[in-house]
Amino acid sequence: VNLKPYNTFGLPAVAKRLVRIREAADVRRVVDHPELGRAPKFVLGGGSNLVLTKDVDAVVLKVEITGIRLLEERDDAWIVEAGAGVVWHEFVTWTLDHGYPGLENMALIPGTVGAAPVQNIGAYGIEVKDRLEAVEVMDLVTGRPALLPAEVCRFGYRDSVFKHSDFGGLAGKSVITKVRFRLPKPWQPVLGYLEIERKMLDTGITAPDARQIYDWICAVRRAKLPDPAVIGNAGSFFKNPVVTAEQCRDIIGRDPGIVHYPMPDGSVKLAAGWMIDACGWKGKTVGGAAVYEKQALVLVNKADARGAEVVTLARAIQESVYGRFGIRLEPEPVVI
Ligand code: EPU
Repeated sequence: VNLKPYNTFGLPAVAKRLVRIREAADVRRVVDHPELGRAPKFVLGGGSNLVLTKDVDAVVLKVEITGIRLLEERDDAWIVEAGAGVVWHEFVTWTLDHGYPGLENMALIPGTVGAAPVQNIGAYGIEVKDRLEAVEVMDLVTGRPALLPAEVCRFGYRDSVFKHSDFGGLAGKSVITKVRFRLPKPWQPVLGYLEIERKMLDTGITAPDARQIYDWICAVRRAKLPDPAVIGNAGSFFKNPVVTAEQCRDIIGRDPGIVHYPMPDGSVKLAAGWMIDACGWKGKTVGGAAVYEKQALVLVNKADARGAEVVTLARAIQESVYGRFGIRLEPEPVVI
C-alpha cells in the first residue's frame, strides 16, 4: 500500500500490510489473527505528525473509527466523545455547531481526534490536556479495552505517555480508539494570545463568543500556515525550546530581538521559528523539501520531496541554530 496519501507531508513510502480499524473490535481481530497478531504494528492516524523516510515493515493499523456524541451533561461540563478517526477540525466544528464550546482556539489543527492526545496538540493558549477527560485504548497484546483518565496520560508540552515506549510508555503498545473531552461550563474565552488581541483591537469586539474566536483562529492560521491539502507539511517541525532564565539572558545579550515567553516555573520558552528565521532559512530548500516562506518553523514538501531530504534540511537547520544560539532544536513530528 502506498502511504503517500496517508501522511500530510505527502512523502513516498510503502507499507507491506495495512489493516483498516473501523471499530475497537477490529483491533481484537488483529491481535487474535494467527500471523498479524505476532507481527510488529504501527498505528497511523491522520499522518499529520509523521516524517516517513523509508518503507514500513510493521503492519500498519489505519484508525478510521468515526462517530461523535454528547456522552453526558454535568453541572460544570459537557462530556463529548469522538472516534479516533474523526478529522480533528470537523470535530471542533461539530462541538461549536451543537453548542458545546471550548475547543475553538484549536480550530484547523491538521490530523485526527485520536492523534490529538498523542502529542498533546495545542494552539493559542489551549492544549488538548486542558480539555481531556479520558482516552479509550485497545491493548495491542491482549486485545482488551481500557479507559485511561487524563491524569495517567503524562501530558507535557507536545508530549504524552503515547509518544514513549520506555518507562511504561504506551507507544506501539496500544491503539487509541475513542477520546472523551470535558468542555467546562460556563464557557470562558481564552484570549491571551497576541493574534487574538490584535483581532479584538481591529474589530472593536471586546467580548467575542466562541464562534467569533473560531473564525479568527481559522483566519490567522490560513494566513500564515500552509494547508496540507495544497502543500504537504506536518505543522511546526520543531518544538519551541525551553531554557533557564540565565541561558535566556545570555542569548538576549547577543540577540536582543529574540521572541521569548516567560513560563510559570521561571524557565523561558524561546520561539524556534524566530531563531530559524534569524539564521536566514525562510524559503531555503534541499531537493523537494523547503522552509515555508511565511513561517520558518514549518517545513514543506515543495516538489515531490523524499523523507531523506526533509531530514537533511532539518539537520542543517539544527546545526545552524546551534551554531548561532547554542540551542538544540528537537523535532516535533515522529521520524520513521
Ligand atoms: N517568528 C518569526 N519568524 C518566523 C516564524 C515565527 O519571527 O518565521 C516569530 C513570530 O513573529 C512570533 C514568534 O516567532 O513572534 C512565534 O511564532 P508563532 O506565533 O507563529 O508561533 P510558534 O511558536 O511558531 C506555536 C505552536 C503552533 C501553534 C502556535 C500558536 C509549537 C512548536 N508550535 O508556534 O503549533 O499553532 O504556537 O499557538 O509549539 C504545531 O505544533 O504544529 C503548531 C502549528
